[in-house]
Amino acid sequence: MKKSIFIKNMIEKYHIPPSSLEKIIIKYLWWNSKNLFLQEDISFIYEIEEDVKKLTHWYPLAYILWQAEFYGLSFFVDENTLIPRIDTEVLVRSVLDYCWEKKTKFFLFDIGTWTWCIPLSLNFYSPEFFKNTIGIDISANALKIAKKNKENLVKNKKISFLLLDFHYLESIIQEIDYKNKNLIFTANLPYIKNWDEALEKNVEVYEPQAALFWGKDTGFEMYEDLIKKLIVIKKEKKIKNIDLFIEIWYNQAECSKSFLEEKKLSYRQIFDTNKILRTLFIKI
Ligand SMILES: C[S@@+](CC[C@H](N)C(=O)[O-])C[C@H]1O[C@@H](n2cnc3c(N)ncnc32)[C@H](O)[C@@H]1O
Repeated sequence: MKKSIFIKNMIEKYHIPPSSLEKIIIKYLWWNSKNLFLQEDISFIYEIEEDVKKLTHWYPLAYILWQAEFYGLSFFVDENTLIPRIDTEVLVRSVLDYCWEKKTKFFLFDIGTWTWCIPLSLNFYSPEFFKNTIGIDISANALKIAKKNKENLVKNKKISFLLLDFHYLESIIQEIDYKNKNLIFTANLPYIKNWDEALEKNVEVYEPQAALFWGKDTGFEMYEDLIKKLIVIKKEKKIKNIDLFIEIWYNQAECSKSFLEEKKLSYRQIFDTNKILRTLFIKI
């Protein structure tokens, strides 16, 4: 069967986007042999149709391809991984803008790092601004994935990953190392209180729920803990400057505002291209 007829049949039978089918086909052609790119008949690769069937059950394309695009880079993902989201690119862009404006060197800490998509993107695009980078997460699965991504993306940088709960952050912030220094913290922590119709079906069924859901009242509670922790660390470890960039859920404008004002912290709200508030830049 001609390749074009096979593609037409798949799209008509399963109603999937042609771009997804194209990516699946390329995966198998690449795996089998590059020569297959030249072959007209690919209908014998039965795995293509198996993968297409998974898509119709909301299985994420990124898990089928074992890769997710984030900030123009390709990240390895598997079924244990929260797939990096385009939403988080706003946070990365804000940090890069800030670094380009300040033109100084920072120590970078990423809290809840998982694939390491935030610190690896920052170090890939602007390594000159980051003296040292540490990503922390409580998930051992995350550690395996993050290491793989580091090997693929930024080999020679001082970047390390620690299995650590941020509630014990002070154990790695030594006064001797960070006194009078500039620190940037980035965090995309679980911030969704309840199941929400803004989430897609595949998130509900397939992605790790612990990476997403938290909080009793607003969902912002884990960030409140982190901010309180950073206030104490800044004072106790005599740190000159702590800049914090966090990603929030679309309905947390009010609760974040009242918490930050109560703490008398200055902050900037950063909106995505749809004019939705998704990122906060906070001066601790
Ligand atoms: C929404 S995911 C973010 C993953 C990744 N940074 C991204 O942007 O795609 C939240 C992450 O926070 C981690 N996490 C949850 N509680 C934590 C804690 N107390 N300390 C450190 N990491 C935590 C989870 O394991 C998960 O990897």
